Amino acid sequence: MSINAKLTLACLGFLAISIAVGIFTWVQERNLGSLSMTVYDKALIGVNYARKVQTEFVRVEAALHGLQKPADDSQLRVQLADLLDDLDVATERAMTAKSRAAAVTIRARIAALAQPSNGNAMFGALPAIDTDLGKLVDMYTADGFTYRIRTEQVIADSDFWLILVSSAAIVLSIAIAFSLRQAILPPIGNAVRVAVQIASGRLDNKIETGGRSETSVLLRSLDAMQTAIAAHLEAQAATQAELLKRERLSALGQLTATVAHELRNPLSAIRNTFVVIEDKAKQQGLNLERLAERIDRSIGRCDRLINDLLDYTRGTTSNPEPIALDAWLKPLIEEQTIPQGIIVEQDLCAPRATISIDPDRFRRVIINVLENAMQALNDSAQTERRITIRTSDGAYVASIVVEDNGPGIDPDVLPRIFEPLFSTKSFGTGLGLPTVKQIVDQHQGQIEIASEKGSGTTVRIDLPHQATTAVPA
Ligand SMILES: Nc1ncnc2c1ncn2[C@@H]1O[C@H](COP(=O)(O)OP(=O)(O)OP(=O)(O)O)[C@@H](O)[C@H]1O
Ligand SMILES: [Mg+2]
Repeated sequence: MSINAKLTLACLGFLAISIAVGIFTWVQERNLGSLSMTVYDKALIGVNYARKVQTEFVRVEAALHGLQKPADDSQLRVQLADLLDDLDVATERAMTAKSRAAAVTIRARIAALAQPSNGNAMFGALPAIDTDLGKLVDMYTADGFTYRIRTEQVIADSDFWLILVSSAAIVLSIAIAFSLRQAILPPIGNAVRVAVQIASGRLDNKIETGGRSETSVLLRSLDAMQTAIAAHLEAQAATQAELLKRERLSALGQLTATVAHELRNPLSAIRNTFVVIEDKAKQQGLNLERLAERIDRSIGRCDRLINDLLDYTRGTTSNPEPIALDAWLKPLIEEQTIPQGIIVEQDLCAPRATISIDPDRFRRVIINVLENAMQALNDSAQTERRITIRTSDGAYVASIVVEDNGPGIDPDVLPRIFEPLFSTKSFGTGLGLPTVKQIVDQHQGQIEIASEKGSGTTVRIDLPHQATTAVPA
């Protein structure tokens, strides 16, 4: 939920609480007002009327006592009629059913007295009616007190409810304010923490990116930012490494070109001179054949080394042509000199695969990879030393896999094997695999080397079926 929505909800909550408390107070006040009016009407007016009736009756009584004959009681009857009217009002004002019943009884008795035939009976009944009227007044007064007590109780109840509702409103408001704080501050705090971490250079922060709130959007942006910065730094490091490599290669290239140039002339002078020496030795019958062979091999090795260096640093252009993979690979493998004790197995399963390669240049790839495998197996203590060369034809690529069961490559060494001039061998120049990669790249292929220390090494080269144009180095 967005911060905006949370704040709006909280404000609505506060508003609802205020309105509820206001309405409750207003209703309570109104109830109390009407209640006090009822009490005023019933208690005060009722008691007053009862008293008034009693006072009138005293007057009627006095008038009765002043009469000589019952026949002269007509004025008295008028007074009794007034008394009855007052009693009617008092009955109406009665606060309880009991008081009302008592008022009705007295009224009936007085009404009976007011009949002309009852003139004499009137005198006899007066004291009892007087007493009953006194009781009625007492009842009304007691009712008034009861009502007052009840009203006080209602007021106390109302106070209690007001305090309860106000306290509940305060507690609810605090709860809303607290949950609002909890809903807003921790995510903002989290975002701030992540921003500080990113600013201090830490770019691997685990960021929860779900949700739609402003803080979630902020966290998502921070996540994107740290990913972008990390990618940028990585790209920058890669560019720097590449620049360094190029600088190194360029320096190496210049040096190699000079050295190769300087070495080629003396080397051909040595070769030519040696041919002359060999001829002369033959003429004089000296048996130098084995020595001559060794010198010839060494000269050949130097020559190859110079060519390798020039090849890699100049990056010769490839001229690809369609080649049937298996048919091209088979004689190439067979013409290699395999050291004793090493079994080379061919498992060529791509007779129909045609790849677009420069065969002269791609020879180097196969030879370099095979040489590495053979050199690795020379150092191996395995009883059965084996190299397997496999081909396969896939939907998009044809693959060449060279597998050996040699000592494998150390995990620390593996990431560096494509670095130019990196070698673990005392006689190696470290240009074999970089050249392989360069040529495979030129043919838009892929090379992967997997190795497990002690189990051997697998080199896999994938080449597209239709590599049309080769990329110049
Ligand atoms: N089949 C393999 N088994 C074990 N190690 C290997 C294998 N192939 C390559 N390596 C390791 O990779 C390193 C680099 O190989 P690369 O062919 O580039 O150079 P090199 O063989 O040392 O020298 P060069 O090929 O230039 O004579 C080797 O020194 C070796 O440590
Ligand atoms: Mg090599």
